[in-house]
Amino acid sequence: MFTTTKLFLQVTACGALFALNTYAVGADPVRYGFGEPASAHDLQDFVSSLPDGRDLPAGSGTISRGKQVYDEKCASCHGQKMEGGVGDRLLGGRGTLVNNDPKKAPVKTVESYWPYATTLFDYIKRAMPFYTPGSLTNDEVYSVTGYILSEANILKGDEPITAESLAKVAMPNRDGFIPDHRPDHFKPADKHPRLR
Ligand code: HEC
Repeated sequence: MFTTTKLFLQVTACGALFALNTYAVGADPVRYGFGEPASAHDLQDFVSSLPDGRDLPAGSGTISRGKQVYDEKCASCHGQKMEGGVGDRLLGGRGTLVNNDPKKAPVKTVESYWPYATTLFDYIKRAMPFYTPGSLTNDEVYSVTGYILSEANILKGDEPITAESLAKVAMPNRDGFIPDHRPDHFKPADKHPRLR
């Protein structure tokens, strides 16, 4: 009962806010009277890197450290051998994406599908572990990214994993994507302000 009343009050309060906002249409959005501009420090955990590694954070990892991170923080959902479970399967499926047999579904994984290793870092950094995204240090993300790529036989050895090394990785499906040539929908890459 208490919860219902509280919810009702919240809904009413939201309604009041919307009503006020209606009068503020066209006004300077700075004048809402709450919040503050995000500082560079606030934004530092929001990674959005480019395929060539630009905007990846500083740091480095190793494949052996990555195995520890994976076993502790990823295996419960993605499986001990990355075969999948609650979370997606991460390995295998090379060569299954293109075929003419309607009974053979493509097996899309990091190994078979993802075009850039830098995107793998970016995704893990922002979205994984599923229930506690943002909880890994940059070094842990570099490490676990390297471990997944090593299990996929894309990386060999135990060289340090960094922004520069990830940018140089040739993913198996790197050339499997076709650029969309409709300039009215997507600016050609060389015209895009961030890529110039
Ligand atoms: C609580 C379960 C859980 C844990 C723990 C977890 N994941 Fe995930 N993961 C998921 C789910 C669910 C998805 C699918 C999310 C979606 O499609 O929106 C996913 C998706 C992914 C993908 C994208 C796969 C693809 O091909 O689309 C990667 C890569 C990944 N996780 C890596 C990791 C790593 C690395 C860790 C450990 C640091 C981790 N995950 C921990 C549940 C989990």
